[in-house]
Amino acid sequence: MSGHKHHDHLDWDNRGEVLERDAEVMSPLLEQAFQWLQGFQATPERVLDIGSGPGVASSLLAGLHPGAEVVAVDGAPALLERARARAQRLGVPIGTRLAQLPEEIGDLGSADVVWIGQVLHHLGDQEAALAELAGLLRPGGVLALMEGGLPFRFLPRDIGIGEPGLQSRLDAAVDLSFNEMRAELPDKVAVVEDWPALLDRAGMKHIGTRTFLVDHPAPVDGDKRSYIRSTIENWSKFAAQRLSDEDNATLARLLDPEDEAGVPRRPDVFVLGARTIYLATTR
Ligand SMILES: C[S@@+](CC[C@H](N)C(=O)[O-])C[C@H]1O[C@@H](n2cnc3c(N)ncnc32)[C@H](O)[C@@H]1O
Repeated sequence: MSGHKHHDHLDWDNRGEVLERDAEVMSPLLEQAFQWLQGFQATPERVLDIGSGPGVASSLLAGLHPGAEVVAVDGAPALLERARARAQRLGVPIGTRLAQLPEEIGDLGSADVVWIGQVLHHLGDQEAALAELAGLLRPGGVLALMEGGLPFRFLPRDIGIGEPGLQSRLDAAVDLSFNEMRAELPDKVAVVEDWPALLDRAGMKHIGTRTFLVDHPAPVDGDKRSYIRSTIENWSKFAAQRLSDEDNATLARLLDPEDEAGVPRRPDVFVLGARTIYLATTR
């Protein structure tokens, strides 16, 4: 188990701070999603947060279900450490479990709720992983899968520098690097990402799909501004070779803390995005 490399070779352990802030920005969406989920599983006894990262969802779930055993499951020890520290800070009980996906799914024990948010796309064979996850559900248990939605937007169409429409071009470039990330997964299996059909094929019954918004209008606070800056910085690295020189120059200005047109100083940045959640239960 130890020494086993992450399948997608991303350095998850060192991304704790960024992942935690990203998930905090998404918290209002997670809260709405978990309320919806509660309508299907009001009093779960055991909840698994698969690929929990720093455990923002785990702590929310533990707060919502005080009687439940909530376990954050991840392959990155430093992220689980962060999940524990966060839960302690918030005064909610969570357990953590170091596990590689998908190999160790079968060892996680059964649960009434299995949450897997923005993780499945990092696994090569998404369909096989869903079948393994289905095996964790107790009768009447619910699996909640968060995948896709709408790309996050931070900037108006015309930001006064460079060619308008930068964010759509950035999205397109990031999508292409996402394809490359998946293509490099060692056990990659191509599949039509029709999630309801995949959940059904994994032996479960799809019971609902809803999309929730993350909507933080301008002006945003300092934490969100840092989130926006670091996300654009991250995307720019992926996208640089696919963008024009003009767009790369605009991005450099956006990231420059001294530039008045940069994200740290401009008043018009916002966070608007959506994520879709698919629910399935046992047959
Ligand atoms: C994009 S983050 C999502 C974190 C969290 N669920 C959220 O929505 O904020 C993906 C998480 O999955 C974990 N992960 C990715 N591939 C994994 C694998 N093969 N085994 C175990 N964990 C993995 C990473 O360590 C990381 O914490």
